[in-house]
Amino acid sequence: MHIPGYSFGSVAPAPLSLADFDRMKGAALFGEGDVAALRRSHEVLAPQTDAILDVWYGFVGSLPHLLASFSLEGRPDVAYLGAVRARFGQWILDTARAEYDQRWLDYQLEIGRRHHRVGKNRTDGAKASPIVELRYLFPLIVPVTHTLRPFLAADGASPEEVDARHAAWLKSVVLQVTLWAHPYVKEGDF
Ligand code: HEM
Repeated sequence: MHIPGYSFGSVAPAPLSLADFDRMKGAALFGEGDVAALRRSHEVLAPQTDAILDVWYGFVGSLPHLLASFSLEGRPDVAYLGAVRARFGQWILDTARAEYDQRWLDYQLEIGRRHHRVGKNRTDGAKASPIVELRYLFPLIVPVTHTLRPFLAADGASPEEVDARHAAWLKSVVLQVTLWAHPYVKEGDF
């Protein structure tokens, strides 16, 4: 399925190599077992992406300082929320697919730019707030991965298997959000 604005091929190259990303994976104890666990999560998550997004959007909508990122003059931009939601759904599937090539890495930097003022609002021509402040990016890892757990368990997998999927998701999201921080960081300090 093609999601408007979501395409690995059409973004600027990342100033990072796959070897750099491998070293980041090592720092997060992210290994082949995690790749396998993410891929096993694909089947159980794929039919549930809408329900997952309902939970995540419900969380963002419940906190005015987060909803502000999607709002213009205090009113949520419904078209913008909807367009981003479609890309977010594709991101769930791509995170579970766990295929890391240079195009994927380039796209992570693009997602970072889309949270930062250099790229926010541009994909959808939105007029919402100019930046998602960095101080909220990392904390959101907690609700995103915490609320995923019941969805990871929905196929009746054993608690050990659900733990493995959950740990892999947490590591992957930590690594991705770290990549997304790139545009926020002073040249030379990433
Ligand atoms: C764990 C942290 C986060 C995850 C996993 C996440 C995930 C995503 C994804 C997958 C997209 C779509 C990227 C694309 O265009 O392909 C997106 C966009 C967006 N996110 Fe986040 N996000 C996180 C933190 C936040 C926070 C804290 C906010 C503040 C409310 C936020 C607000 C937004 C906004 C406004 C967009 C649209 C950006 C644009 O104009 O293109 N995100 N996010």
